[in-house]
Amino acid sequence: MITYKELGLVNSKDLFAKAVKGGYAIPAFNFNNLEQLQAIIGACVETKSPVILQVSSGARKYANQTLLKHLAKGAVDYAHELGFDIPIVLHLDHGDTFELCKSCIESGFSSVMIDGSHHSYEKNIELTAQVVEYAHKHNVSVEGELGVLAGIEDDVSSDVTHYTKPEEVEDFVKKTGVDSLAISIGTSHGANKFTPDQCTRNEDGILVPPPLRFDILEECEKRIPGFPIVLHGASSVPAELVKIINSNGGKLKDAVGIPEEQLRRAAASAVCKVNIDSDGRLAMTAAIRKAFNDNPAEFDPRKYLGPARDSLKELYKHKIVNVLGSAGKAVNCN
Ligand code: G3H
Ligand code: 13P
Ligand code: ZN
Repeated sequence: MITYKELGLVNSKDLFAKAVKGGYAIPAFNFNNLEQLQAIIGACVETKSPVILQVSSGARKYANQTLLKHLAKGAVDYAHELGFDIPIVLHLDHGDTFELCKSCIESGFSSVMIDGSHHSYEKNIELTAQVVEYAHKHNVSVEGELGVLAGIEDDVSSDVTHYTKPEEVEDFVKKTGVDSLAISIGTSHGANKFTPDQCTRNEDGILVPPPLRFDILEECEKRIPGFPIVLHGASSVPAELVKIINSNGGKLKDAVGIPEEQLRRAAASAVCKVNIDSDGRLAMTAAIRKAFNDNPAEFDPRKYLGPARDSLKELYKHKIVNVLGSAGKAVNCN
């Protein structure tokens, strides 16, 4: 067993308390490899933002848990080397069993999500409370989820959104002891968050998605005032990235995400953690497709992964500065 403190990581408790009070959200960026990690840490150090490094169970299988542990420790040292010790949380994204959460806690994670949202309400409470009991013995933060997002979460998928029922949140938080709660207000995972018939089209023919259910968010906030709320499925799916992908041989059809002004509004509320994965995937894919097209004779991975990393870093800086409002918030955290 290694504790997150030995790796130089922090849990999310103080970060969330400050974010809720300050009306901003901490970025939760998924990573699976070295370039993504370099881009995240580079962007967060330059903007002086706290960060949640997020690892799904698929990412853990892909990257190897031992390597991940060393990468997380490396992220702390890398930030220091870049000149600013930002607070870094290592978080399990969409944990689905007690055993997986326990194993992550034992290998240095400072925060875990137990996603019992696909179970019955009672089973979700039971499973979440079991994880909280173990995690809190180790000072590790726990995120629970109520309501189901449409889209794919690892091996679990849902065609339709099941909005969070505000009347359940207070009871769930009380019975489980979770530290934060993910809710479902109309976001979803992936790059095709809505079907074209769920959208309207603007004058340029661009798909405009239905607005998020801020009424549900406000109802939840009323019932658990000041409690940290998490938004999953928060990629914006930038049209310019989809265009680069498709004009360089890609085939992304009807890709549509959450408009940034809605995410800004959410970040100013009790939403204190915003999950972004797909936008990073799009930024990397666009840069790599373009590099392959521009230089077909090139076969040095650094020549296409390098531009992908640069593009990712710019995307993350944009999110931090212009969407989430977390720039400069690492200043008084150490
Ligand atoms: O919510 C899902 C995240 O985007 C992680 O995706 O399970 O493909 O790693 P993944
Ligand atoms: P996106 O697919 O919108 O990036 O959401 C990521 C996420 O919620 C990870 O848990
Ligand atoms: Zn998610």
